[in-house]
This record gives sequence, structure tokens and C-alpha cells, in this order.
Amino acid sequence: MDGTNFRRAIARTRLAPVAAFPKRFMRVARHDARVIGVSAKWLLTSREHHNFTYDLTTLSREHLAWFVSVTCDVPVGQVRTYLAEIEQDETLRQHIARATSTAERRGLADRRVRYARRIGWYAIVRAIRPTHIVETGVDKGLGTCVLASALLRNAADGDPGRVTSLDINPEAGYLAKSEPWASVVDLVIGDSLASIKQLDRPVDLFLHDSDHHTKHERREFSTVEPKLAPGARLITDNVTVTNVLAEHAEKTGRRFLAYRETPAQHWYPGDGIGIAW
Ligand SMILES: C[S@@+](CC[C@H](N)C(=O)[O-])C[C@H]1O[C@@H](n2cnc3c(N)ncnc32)[C@H](O)[C@@H]1O
Repeated sequence: MDGTNFRRAIARTRLAPVAAFPKRFMRVARHDARVIGVSAKWLLTSREHHNFTYDLTTLSREHLAWFVSVTCDVPVGQVRTYLAEIEQDETLRQHIARATSTAERRGLADRRVRYARRIGWYAIVRAIRPTHIVETGVDKGLGTCVLASALLRNAADGDPGRVTSLDINPEAGYLAKSEPWASVVDLVIGDSLASIKQLDRPVDLFLHDSDHHTKHERREFSTVEPKLAPGARLITDNVTVTNVLAEHAEKTGRRFLAYRETPAQHWYPGDGIGIAW
């Protein structure tokens, strides 16, 4: 009996789990060793304690391009151009690096600029050309800058727009307070639900990224519904945790799709983009 036939014979006996154990152990050990190695490096080199930043793997970036292409009905080649635009925007990159290194909370932020799934937000704004975006949850203002950068490019193409960014923390949004990005940003401090009720212009694109508890996410989408322009798109940053936007889409007769990002060289498993349209 050769080796292959011997292994097949063992696989049919009660000894199979014992025989397979070394191979199974090596598979999981190799995986866990990689995670521990990446985690240890991150603990020593990063300063971030939440809202982590990283690049996407090449494959994850390519899937993101297709996700935007399908959900916004634009050719994938065009979306790749948009992704390259934000990645190669050195003016924005230098601004974020400089503002981060001089910020009061610089001890809790990384200087290296990495946008993760926010490059998808950028491509969506470039693709659908919204007049009014509402973003709930601003933190340092990284996403706000990315959205503002897309709006500035749209304006240069003849399609101006603004972003209203809502956060409960008065210290939020410091990255988005510099020109030219600040010229298209209205930063509103307060609870997002109260701020959404005060909106006085129709919303073309709504992005939930504030309090990620299911109840709050659900209340944001129901509160913004009467404020939406015809054909508005809804995005959630919480799609890997709840099914809130999918349920809202079904209730309101929209389509829904989710993308899950894969961070490159990071222990964090990543978040995603849920979109309803
Ligand atoms: C995940 S961060 C936002 C990240 C940001 N969009 C970005 O791209 O980096 C969540 C933010 O939501 C804010 N937040 C939490 N609860 C809120 C509420 N009820 N209303 C408004 N903002 C809230 C927090 O202060 C925090 O800055």
C-alpha cells in the first residue's frame, strides 16, 4: 500500500481525528502566529486606540471598486480612477499628516495617512455627485476630509456640493477645519438625532458612522427618511455588526448591498460599507 492509499485507509477508521491532529494544529498555529506578530508590531508602532486606520489589501481594494461600480452604476474603470485620485492626493495627505502631528490629541493618532474603506466613500461621492451629504460621527475628521475632497473635485467638474458633519463631541473634526476642505464642510456639534431633525436642505447621501448601537443606528435612518431627496443613497459604517440598513432598505423598497473590507498588515478584522439605494 502506497502513502496515499494508507492515508485514505486511515481516514476511514476511528483513528482519523488523531491522525489529522498535527496537520490541523500546524494550520491554526501558523495563522495565530501571524496575527500575534502583526498585533505585537502594531502595539509598538501605532498610537491609535479606536477608529483604526490601515490600507486595504490589493484584492479588497479591487472588490471595493466593483462594489461601487455596481451600486452606483458607473463603469469599474471609472471607479478605479476615482480610487487613484484620493490615494494620489498629496495635498490632502500632507495636510492630514501635518494637522495630526500638531493636534492636542496627537498622542492617540498615527502620522501615516491611511483611509481604509473611506476611499470607497470618496468614489461613491465622485460617482453620484451629491449636492448635500450628511455624515454622522466625525471623530478627527478623516472621513469628512475624504468626503470634502471628493466634493471639491466635483465642484471643479461643475457639480458643487456640501457635507454636513454631525458629532456630539465638541473636539471632533479638527482635521476638517482647514481650507480648502473646510469651505465645503458644515460641522454641527450635538446629538445626531437632534441635528438630523434640524436639517433644512434635502439630503442626497446619508452616512451613518456615529453611535453604533443598533437602536441609535435604526433611529438615525428613520429620522433622516423625511429629509431625503428623491433617489438618495444611505450608507452605514456598521454593516459588519448589524442588519439595520438592510432591514430599512426592505421596509422602504430600496436595494441593499454590503462590502466587507480586508485590512493589509493589521490585526483588526476590518469594517465595511453597507449601501441602500
Ligand atoms: C467611529 S467615529 C466616526 C469616524 C469618522 N466618520 C471617520 O471617518 O473617521 C464615531 C464618532 O461618533 C460620535 N458620536 C457618538 N455618539 C454620537 C451621537 N449620539 N451623536 C453624534 N455623534 C456621536 C463620537 O463622538 C465619535 O467621534
